[in-house]
Amino acid sequence: MSAMSVFFINVLFFVITGFDDQEIVALSGAHALGRCHTTASGYDGPWTPLPTKFSNLYFTLLNQVKWNKRDWSGPFQYEDEGKSLMMLPTDLVLIQDSGFKKYVDIYAGDQEKFFSDFSLAFNKLEELGTKNLSTAKWY
Ligand code: HEM
Repeated sequence: MSAMSVFFINVLFFVITGFDDQEIVALSGAHALGRCHTTASGYDGPWTPLPTKFSNLYFTLLNQVKWNKRDWSGPFQYEDEGKSLMMLPTDLVLIQDSGFKKYVDIYAGDQEKFFSDFSLAFNKLEELGTKNLSTAKWY
């Protein structure tokens, strides 16, 4: 599972778009915001208790919380002991793979560094643009 997810993230980000490990981890920090919806992706719950505040909390929670497999009928995901927060398999890969974990540790300990690296990586993401998009019913 872990190796598969590392492969998936690298194919998704690097082989296709040219993002390296550091940029992948920085971009993933966007999951400090928002939540998963069973009506959209099938996953459920927020990554942090402050989903409207942009911060490095995603990284500190990734590192500090004990993430357990959620026992439910939905797709494979993780939950905290209090069952109020969640992580995707692709989020957990960031602490399971040493190449990614190095940057999780940096961003968990230095919010300003996260903000600065995120803005560069996000700018790159936007400037690369998209192609072959089509409309889809999302709700
Ligand atoms: C490994 C790559 C990624 C995966 C597998 C992934 C997966 C997901 C999934 C499953 C959701 C839940 C959608 C829903 O149910 O509404 C989500 C939400 C979200 N993602 Fe990602 N994501 C990835 C990368 C990113 C990146 C690069 C960004 C931005 C830079 C991002 C920003 C967000 C935000 C802000 C939400 C919350 C949306 C909401 O609250 O409606 N994600 N992501």
